[in-house]
Amino acid sequence: KILILDFGSQYTQLIARAVREANVYCEIIPYHKSIEFDPSLKGIILSGSPFSVNDANAPVVDIATLHGRLPVLGVCYGAQLTAKQFGGRVANSSKREYGRALLHKQKDSVLLKDVTELSQVWMSHADTILDLPAGFEVLANTENIPYAAFKKGAATGNGTAGAEGEQPLYCLQFHPEVYHSIEGKKIIRNFLVNVCGCKQDWTPAHFVSDTVAALQKQIGQRKVIMALSGGVDSTVAATLIHKAIGDRLMGIFVDNGVLRKDEFEQVLSTYRQIGLNVKGVDAKNLFYSQLAGKSDPEAKRKTIGRLFIEVFQDEAKKVEGVELLGQGTIYPDVIESVSVHGPSVTIKSHHNVGGLPEKMHLELVEPLRFLFKDEVRRVGAELGIPDDLLQRHPFPGPGLAIRILGEVTEEKVRLLQEADHIYIKGLKDHHLYSTVWQAGAILLPVKSVGVMGDERTYEFTVALRAVTSVDGMTADWAHLPYTFLADISNDIINSVKGINRVVYDISSKPPATIEWE
Ligand code: XMP
Repeated sequence: KILILDFGSQYTQLIARAVREANVYCEIIPYHKSIEFDPSLKGIILSGSPFSVNDANAPVVDIATLHGRLPVLGVCYGAQLTAKQFGGRVANSSKREYGRALLHKQKDSVLLKDVTELSQVWMSHADTILDLPAGFEVLANTENIPYAAFKKGAATGNGTAGAEGEQPLYCLQFHPEVYHSIEGKKIIRNFLVNVCGCKQDWTPAHFVSDTVAALQKQIGQRKVIMALSGGVDSTVAATLIHKAIGDRLMGIFVDNGVLRKDEFEQVLSTYRQIGLNVKGVDAKNLFYSQLAGKSDPEAKRKTIGRLFIEVFQDEAKKVEGVELLGQGTIYPDVIESVSVHGPSVTIKSHHNVGGLPEKMHLELVEPLRFLFKDEVRRVGAELGIPDDLLQRHPFPGPGLAIRILGEVTEEKVRLLQEADHIYIKGLKDHHLYSTVWQAGAILLPVKSVGVMGDERTYEFTVALRAVTSVDGMTADWAHLPYTFLADISNDIINSVKGINRVVYDISSKPPATIEWE
């Protein structure tokens, strides 16, 4: 295992993902958390940070203590902090470097092994290292930065410690974890394998067998209940639990009336195909009756959340002796993030499937707690879950209710389901579905005049939304081909009676959001 000490950089999760991609397990912890030096821990990576090492409240750790015990890699701020703590000079300099730079290797090293001369790396720092501390050696420079890569102590090349018990300490001024550092992943892999001696055995197959064993140990002969949503995370989590305990896992999938067209039946049939023991609960009418008269988005969200919990609890009560609750929580939901507005620590809030309350007094089973989304998909593929389910776009818990602006009625749901179905099917047929992060249609509370044949129409407008994004935090509108948009517009207007106008949303997030409510 590798530990990544987070100093608050926006790229910390990318470091973790690069490590995991090299099939090495890692965890992120806030820099001020104490470290457990168990034998599985093979090395430490120090992240970047929005702080300057010379800020009065800059986050610090004692790097000498760490490198007395384990190999360390400092990235950007981690490199500057190392230089400063060992007696070098770091200052705000006129020679700032942002963006592209070319790495010139000064000597061979296991860290930069097989990295091409003048490989492109990505810089993002305001401070610069003016003098290296004594005992450090330069490994590479760029045009503007004399100390782009440096080290103290030597790795033997096969992952054993350097001289006199001290472990190798490597530093990189650039960000190897970002996409634009072309050979960055190779450098990280060199650190993991050549310096730390990691085995690269963090694979989906290993994860599945280890997790199934751990689940059997945790659960024993008890029963688990779980809300399923048709989404990737809950499906993969349920499939793992099912592999561990079979039909002692009882899944519940609620039709809240605001799912996509035919989604309830299709997802239930996929679950059966996977072999899951799932009960479908048709609660459409309850949801419609309680949504009636509500047009405020937050009121709609609260109503749906509350009803979901009620329905789920009713079903849970019917399962005798159930003691555990399965959840599809994933790693980004549980990483403690370091706040850049001071050393305080905030835990990210997350909206899980309906947000089931703690007062259910059930012990949690969260087999995906340490996985990133792309790893969840890889584990899902390993488990044989069909690709169309694994590659599904995210879909909000309140479903189409927050895509019908204003009051939700059964009739409006039907209209939107039809339009949305044409749009999503079109994206798939034109091989565009996987090029966007999320897509959907929105029913606007606006009627406008149209003409069809000799007839005047006065009907609703639908907005199409498609965005590109990495994590939903920021997003750009997808530049879908005009010919595609033209076809979809025609299809919707010609086949969905009640809609006579289609518009395309060209807003990015921020300042807009992905959903309209
Ligand atoms: P926004 O609209 O905030 O959406 O840009 C970002 C992502 O979050 C999803 N979303 C929700 N998911 N419950 C959910 O489970 C909600 O109330 C909710 N609101 C937005 C949205 O679909 C997008 O993926």
